[in-house]
Amino acid sequence: MSLRSRSLPRRSCLSTPGSSDRFLAKAPTALADFSFLDLEDSVAPKEKVDARAKVVNAIRTLPWDDRVLCVRVNAWDTPWTYGDVIDVVGRAGARLDEVMLPKVRRASDVVALDLLLSQVESNAGLPLGHIGIEAQIETAEGLINVEDICASSPRLESIVFGPADFAASIGMPVTTIDETIHHAPSNPFSYVFAKILMAGRANGLNVIDGPFLKVRDLEALRYAASITASYGFDGKWALTPDQALVLNEVYSPSQELFDKSLEILSAYRIATEENRTGAVMFGDEMIDEASAKIALSFVARGERAGMKTSRDESSAH
Ligand code: GLV
Ligand code: MG
Repeated sequence: MSLRSRSLPRRSCLSTPGSSDRFLAKAPTALADFSFLDLEDSVAPKEKVDARAKVVNAIRTLPWDDRVLCVRVNAWDTPWTYGDVIDVVGRAGARLDEVMLPKVRRASDVVALDLLLSQVESNAGLPLGHIGIEAQIETAEGLINVEDICASSPRLESIVFGPADFAASIGMPVTTIDETIHHAPSNPFSYVFAKILMAGRANGLNVIDGPFLKVRDLEALRYAASITASYGFDGKWALTPDQALVLNEVYSPSQELFDKSLEILSAYRIATEENRTGAVMFGDEMIDEASAKIALSFVARGERAGMKTSRDESSAH
């Protein structure tokens, strides 16, 4: 597992086609927590092999600051997966944090990538386990096996929902992924979101929502993103830098929530340590150990995103 990237935020995960020098050059200028350079569905079959060198060059030469940097390889049911891994991970150097594997159907898909990565790391002089894995759930079979998939390798850092391929896999009558999916009378995505979230969290993984395809409608994106944010997802894919800005907001706690969480932690600490009570009134709410855990998760999320209290600290306890 990549120790560097595991605890970094992933509110916005920017997708960039690996075959386009122009888009690759622009990617580091976007304010995204995470960037992945794509060799899969945004690259035409005839460009797949040439894109590998462009991606390696981008990883080695562009100013990526400390964002998480990932390459999406092609799925195991194509002719390209092993070549993508050997060519890109073998030559990219230590700045590459992760490989994203699309269309994961079963745990052995991840195990195979893990084994291949160990050989490539050894031959490239990288520390064993340096490269983390992001696994995409994009088929009914992948969803059924998501619990085993999430437990399949210590390299796993995130489990990622791929709504477009998934809609195709289950035969949903839609032609795009937009906010109207969430208005369907019986929205199968609620089951999907809950199932992926539980499997990911049970294994300590980041849980990420996939793309929103109506790229010009940022308010509709905000609405769709707020749904997975309300489940507790860590972030969502961005297809443009503007989408990334919206996602950075949606997947951060609000300043008010962040401040309140700090105050709950402070009130709870005083109650338990100084007054030795396990439950205490906080305004008109009863708080206890569970409330402190919820508050801690918001504080951790806010701190990962660089938030600070907006309240006057001299008045804090
Ligand atoms: C992403 O890969 C998707 O299929 O939605
Ligand atoms: Mg896909």
